[in-house]
Amino acid sequence: MLDPEELVTNTSPNGSFDQVLAANPRRRRLMQGGLSAAVLGFLGVPGALAAREGGAASIDFRALPIATDDAVHVPQGYIAQVLYAWGDPVSDGPAFAQDASNCAADQARQAGMHHDGMHCFALPARAGERNRGLLCINHEYVDDGLLHTDGMREWSAEKVRKSQAAHGVSVIEVRQRADGAWEVVRPSSFARRITASTPMRLAGPAAAHAWLRTEADPAGRLVLGTLNNCANGTTPWGTYLTCEENFHFYFVQRGELTAAQQRYGIGPQGLGYRWEEFDARFDAQRHANEPNRFGWVVEIDPFDPDSTPVKRTALGRFSHEGAVHTLASDQRVVIYSGDDQRNEYIYKFVSRDAYDPARPERNRDLLDHGTLYVARFEADGSGRWLELSAGRNGLTPENGFAGQAEVLIHTRQAADRAGATMMDRPEWITVHPCTGEVFCSLTNNTRRGTNPASVNGAGGTTPAGSARPPLDAANPRADNVYGHIIRWREASSDAASTRFEWDVFIRCGDPAQPDPAKRGDIRGDAFGSPDGLWIDPDGRLWIETDVSPGALNKGDYANLGNNQMLCADLASGEVRRFLTGPRGCEVTGATQSADRRTLFVNIQHPGENPGERNDPANPKAISAWPDGASGGRPRSATLAIRRTDGGPIGS
Ligand code: FEO
Ligand code: CA
Ligand code: CA
Repeated sequence: MLDPEELVTNTSPNGSFDQVLAANPRRRRLMQGGLSAAVLGFLGVPGALAAREGGAASIDFRALPIATDDAVHVPQGYIAQVLYAWGDPVSDGPAFAQDASNCAADQARQAGMHHDGMHCFALPARAGERNRGLLCINHEYVDDGLLHTDGMREWSAEKVRKSQAAHGVSVIEVRQRADGAWEVVRPSSFARRITASTPMRLAGPAAAHAWLRTEADPAGRLVLGTLNNCANGTTPWGTYLTCEENFHFYFVQRGELTAAQQRYGIGPQGLGYRWEEFDARFDAQRHANEPNRFGWVVEIDPFDPDSTPVKRTALGRFSHEGAVHTLASDQRVVIYSGDDQRNEYIYKFVSRDAYDPARPERNRDLLDHGTLYVARFEADGSGRWLELSAGRNGLTPENGFAGQAEVLIHTRQAADRAGATMMDRPEWITVHPCTGEVFCSLTNNTRRGTNPASVNGAGGTTPAGSARPPLDAANPRADNVYGHIIRWREASSDAASTRFEWDVFIRCGDPAQPDPAKRGDIRGDAFGSPDGLWIDPDGRLWIETDVSPGALNKGDYANLGNNQMLCADLASGEVRRFLTGPRGCEVTGATQSADRRTLFVNIQHPGENPGERNDPANPKAISAWPDGASGGRPRSATLAIRRTDGGPIGS
């Protein structure tokens, strides 16, 4: 099985050290005088960009120690309730069978697996209840060892259908009773499951392009399903954005790979989901355009259960981690998105038209028209958004881009051509609600920087075109095992600007490490591999970690415990550990109830092993969370976290 952590498909020469040096004589002088990670990170940044001028709320809870046990821990005075676990019915559907014997049709009416990004949309509370809302929850991928009673031993069309039904999104109605407990409303007229088979419309500049047409859809306008829904976003008009991340893992191409397929990581095995054996559209040799119909941002109207989800092609095609919006000074919609793979890029979309709350019908297709940009981080602390429009930045027919549809379907190649900065795996992005500062987690990258095997002559730099880019100011650590969080501020505080200033907000690490480069600069509780990021409406930065199961609690991560959620005070920089998860899980997803007194968090893949699939004969080998002895297998689940005194979370 292909280890996703090993995949690198960006072999462009972007971000070569020589380019950085040539661009900045001052930096060259510093380099000649020796280079430390600390110097690099703050080089040339005009003072701290810290949000001291306002909008930073204090944090006031007793920090947790690390944990290695099979449980969720929250601070004293807090309660974490399991609200919605894999297999729970979305409405009045079938109950979960602990031996995983639910059929595919059952699964399509139950919570999918591997909960990830989510958002709570408020509904009016009714008499006798504190809160009501719609929770939209992504189900990123599946563990076939847990999903089927006997795992993958006997493979069948039914198992493929069940796997597809366990992907996608849940929309569930939830309410908080007067006693404080949360529950899923069953039945609910809003509840629905969107899966890897749900029909959805392609819209925007790439819709109907020849590269999106297939035998089953000769018009190139209707796709079945969404896949690998990782992080998320929302729009100002109350829709949910779900993002297709590692879509390439579901396709196999056993013939000769095209350059375009290679750039997107399509390969002969995928990640072993074996869908192609019973659903031919996942055989990319037979259906070469089908992979082009994934890797998009999908807009869902949670308030209309009959609505057709829409893939918004104007936002580009890559391993979309999330899609986080803010508004420009003139009310145009701005959406930030990371491409989570080693050495990939950070993108920004700016809508052509302004958001108009008074005219909702005009907002409906706002995401179909606009400009896509990719980020270039300069060594002097400045940055530029490079326009990915046909005819600009070398995106010409001679270079393989016959028009905007081709720029968007081959977004990665367009960004290579434009000269974007390769980043250390861009995960979640969040925008400060008061200052407009943007934070992005760069989770880790052990293929960064030169090493003895790749040193090229006296200069010591990696050859251009290798899959191991050298250090740069924005990605300042070689073999970056702990990751960092980068921050930028758009010029003139206008999110539509094409210039910005940036710095490194936190270098993650373990202060007990003997190697100074691995200690990081966290003020407070140690962590690594930041993934989920969310600034709540009061200005607290929540950080969730995704240390891979193969790295947890050993080696560089021996002192850091299970995956966790922390809270950073943006004024003081202090970081406190708020939650620790059960064994083998990652912690992800963060959203609040309308009254800000409940925080929803997802525990994804408790019990995951380094091979990514469990043994169905021993499904609880690593974790039995959340059902414990009474359960048949570990289950991803949404937590509702509140204070016992009913107070605001975090304060
Ligand atoms: Fe699905 Fe990049 O995490
Ligand atoms: Ca993630
Ligand atoms: Ca992840």
